[in-house]
Amino acid sequence: MREKLVAGNWKMHGDLLQNRELLDAVVAGVAAMRKGSCAVCVPYPYLSAVQVILQDTIVDWGAQNISQYDKGAYTGEVSANMLSDFGCRYVIVGHSERRALFGESSDTVALKYVAAQNSGLTPILCVGESLEQRESGATEQVVAEQLGAVIMKAGIDSLANAVVAYEPVWAIGTGKTATPQQAQDVHEFIRRNVADKNAEVASNLTIQYGGSVKANNAAELFAMPDIDGGLIGGASLIANDFVSICQAVQN
Ligand code: PGA
Repeated sequence: MREKLVAGNWKMHGDLLQNRELLDAVVAGVAAMRKGSCAVCVPYPYLSAVQVILQDTIVDWGAQNISQYDKGAYTGEVSANMLSDFGCRYVIVGHSERRALFGESSDTVALKYVAAQNSGLTPILCVGESLEQRESGATEQVVAEQLGAVIMKAGIDSLANAVVAYEPVWAIGTGKTATPQQAQDVHEFIRRNVADKNAEVASNLTIQYGGSVKANNAAELFAMPDIDGGLIGGASLIANDFVSICQAVQN
């Protein structure tokens, strides 16, 4: 049975006080859940504080980006080893904001994915099409290319230690959620694409949906057979909403 995971992506939000209040409320709200079913991905400067707040809780944590390089003269970059030093479990790679705003190609994303796994981190690999690509019927082609770049570099078996997040760009931060069926169709495509190469890896692969998941639509999305949880932006900053979304994954 594959594991279900709800992960918060705080993006560039938060401060020490707010983070503490948010996490205290989240930890209390999800205390009865299974360890491994809930995580938050936080900005770098808060890693250390979050590590302390979340130790001995069921909530895991991660970062939102890493360098593709191990070490060296890369001013401003953070390596996968530095993250694993903190006991960090996850790192998001290939978020559409990184692809679109910071010029990350699928090849760069694949290098980051490999760097994460080499340091024992679990990458949350984001894939997804823009509105224009969807409207021109290119959704599957785009997702296959993004996934294919990683499979080519890291091998199909690497997906046994990764999470994939399908995030249609047009649904991120827009309040426009994909319908459960639209999301399911792409999730099924991703799982089939992986199954063509390794059926066991495909059936165990956690595929999250991301893009305007809210407390009031999480349950119907998570009820779809190939949707194994969510990657949550805006709603992960509101404790009650995030707790409800985490709880929806169990139902
Ligand atoms: P959103 O963001 O939930 O605010 O749409 C999702 C994401 O970017 O991962």
